[in-house]
Formats: sequence, structure tokens, C-alpha cells
Amino acid sequence: GLPARVRIHEVGPRDGLQNERAVVPVEVKADFIRRLAAAGLTTIEATSFVHPKWVPQLADAERLMELLRDPITEGPGALTNPAAPLAPDVRLPVLVPNERGLDRALALGVREVAVFGSATESFAKANLNRTVDESLAMFAPVVAKAKAEGLRVRGYLSMCFGDPWEGPVPVDQVVRVSRALLGLGCDELSLGDTIGVATPGHVTALLAALAGAGVGADRLAVHFHDTYGQALANTYAALRHGIAVVDASAGGLGGCPYAKSATGNLATEDLVWMLDGLGIETGVDLGLLTATSVWMAAHLGRPSPSRTVRALSHK
Ligand code: HMG
Ligand code: MG
Repeated sequence: GLPARVRIHEVGPRDGLQNERAVVPVEVKADFIRRLAAAGLTTIEATSFVHPKWVPQLADAERLMELLRDPITEGPGALTNPAAPLAPDVRLPVLVPNERGLDRALALGVREVAVFGSATESFAKANLNRTVDESLAMFAPVVAKAKAEGLRVRGYLSMCFGDPWEGPVPVDQVVRVSRALLGLGCDELSLGDTIGVATPGHVTALLAALAGAGVGADRLAVHFHDTYGQALANTYAALRHGIAVVDASAGGLGGCPYAKSATGNLATEDLVWMLDGLGIETGVDLGLLTATSVWMAAHLGRPSPSRTVRALSHK
């Protein structure tokens, strides 16, 4: 059966904005996150504490976390939407590749972090300048320290289906690295279709292989990019397999600067439209969310690629 409730892990401010050519002003990012929270999203991935030369779009991570902690309500940096305070239960995870990143996040009072590995050697090299096993070795002390500090830790695994350099990725390879990431102590593992090539049968096959290897749906999330228009169908396949945490990005923003041919994530609005129709609870107000994506699209100077955003905003 399908889950009664899905927790949406919103990645627009991180996965979305990391791939925008233009650097969005930090005040706009903070406002974006507040609006997403006001629309009912409870897990909003805010930014990454990575090397600023690798992802210049997120070089303002410190300032952003400060703004979210201490909102400016007066003067030139004032929020345009100060009436939308962050509820205390809103989780703001951030990406940290190494101990340097974790220490930067801890200094800002972050309570939830994510490490991000790859199922393929090519992407591990391109994204982390490491082999797969060297990246796992880099994450081990990060996860251990984060857990010791009482943080919640997510693991991402990229290129779970196809890789732009290596082609289709063998399921066994994905299972091996998944188990290794969970073995480090990650609370949750998000399976990434970084370049959006997966189809529902492949999703079902991977989830079945993981279940066979002792990795049940209760520890998994799915992270689909929509390059080939399959993200929603893939999500449905995952829901039928018991997955109840789904990553999505408001307005379908997104991509990955180190994976050619990656486009935006599954749009949160498209996901909510489907879940609403299935009677699956999310707590998200689709009207407020769509208005937020229309507002962000105006900042970025181009319309949202989400079909649901377009349909609801042209009524
Ligand atoms: P490296 O060049 O091998 O780094 O990069 P290093 O460990 O050799 O250190 C070199 C210098 O960088 C040192 O400075 C470090 O201090 C500094 P120096 O001593 O030379 O002056 N440094 C840092 N500075 C600030 N913050 C840090 C940090 N770490 C080192 N955290 C590294 C290795 C991992 C740092 C680099 O490859 C990197 O930052 N990669 C991040 C790439 C990235 O963010 N990609 C996008 C996110 S992944 C994604 O989008 C996929 C996902 O959505 C799922 C999916 O769709 O599949 C999650
Ligand atoms: Mg991604």
C-alpha cells in the first residue's frame, strides 16, 4: 500500500540555487526559506558548507544561517516577508563534505547535516576529488562527530541509476555503497538519480535489491531529477515500495554543477499535486508554495519549469 503521510525534504535553496548561474542575494535566499516554511514545509535543506571555489553560489552559507537565526526586520536588509517566522520545528539541514564543513556548520548552530557520496568513481572524482572509498573515509569522522554532537545525519548517494561518464550503474554497486554509508551511522539515506535517467522498473529493482540486502524503505528517501520527465513516475514506484520521504525542489529549480546533463529536481508542486490527489498528507499549502515559486522565478528572471506551477499561476 501507499504511505498515509509523506515528509517532503525540500532541496530548492540548496540543490536548486547551487546550479543557478546568477548568485541570488543572501537576503532573498533567507526570505525564500521563510516562505517555504510558511507554506508548510518542515525540512528545508538550506545550503552547503563546501569549498566556496567549488560552489560559489553557496559561498554565503555562514551569512544565510545567521539571517535565518536572527532575521533582519528593519533597514535595507529587511525581509520583504517578515510576517513569516520560522516555526521552531522546521529542520534546516546543510551539506558538509568533510570535517572542515562540519565545523563551519556547528559554529552556526546547525542541528542536521548531510554527507554526499557517489555510487560511481567518475562522479566521486568530479564532485569530491576522491575515489568512492576515499570519500567514505572522508565522511567517517564527519558522521561520527556529528552523531556525538547529537545531530541528525543524512547520507546522499548520487548516480544510483545512471552516470554521464559510465552509463547505467549496476545495482550491486549501488547496494554496496548504500550499505557503507548507512554503516557509517547515517540516520537516513537518500538515493539520487542525479541526471534524471531512471525509470520506474529500475527504481523498483534497486529498492528490492536494497531490501534483500537488509536496507528497508524506513531508512530511505528518494531524490529524483526530472531530466527525462520520469521523476513523478519514479516517485510513485518508490511510494508503492513504502518510501515515505521524498526530496523535491520548489518550482523544479536545480541540477548539479559537477554532473553534466543534470537538470532540476522533481518540482515540489508537482509532487504535492500528486500526493494531494492520492490522499497522502504532506502538510503543504499548494497555493502558498506556488506563490513562492512564482516569486522566486521573478527573481531569477525565468519561469518555473514546473507544470503545476504554470497551471496554477495561469488560472
Ligand atoms: P579538495 O580540493 O580535494 O579539498 O576538495 P582539500 O581537502 O584538498 O582542501 C583544499 C583546501 O580547501 C584547503 O584549504 C581546505 O581547508 C579547503 P588550504 O589549506 O589549501 O587553504 N576546504 C574547505 N574550505 C571550506 N569549506 C570546506 C572545505 N573543505 C576543504 N568544507 C572538497 C574537496 C570536498 C572540499 C570539494 O570537492 C568540494 O567542496 N566539493 C563539493 C561539491 C558540491 O558541493 N557538489 C554539489 C553537491 S552534491 C549534489 O548536488 C548531488 C545531490 O543533490 C544528490 C544527487 O542529485 O545525486 C546531493
Ligand atoms: Mg541533486
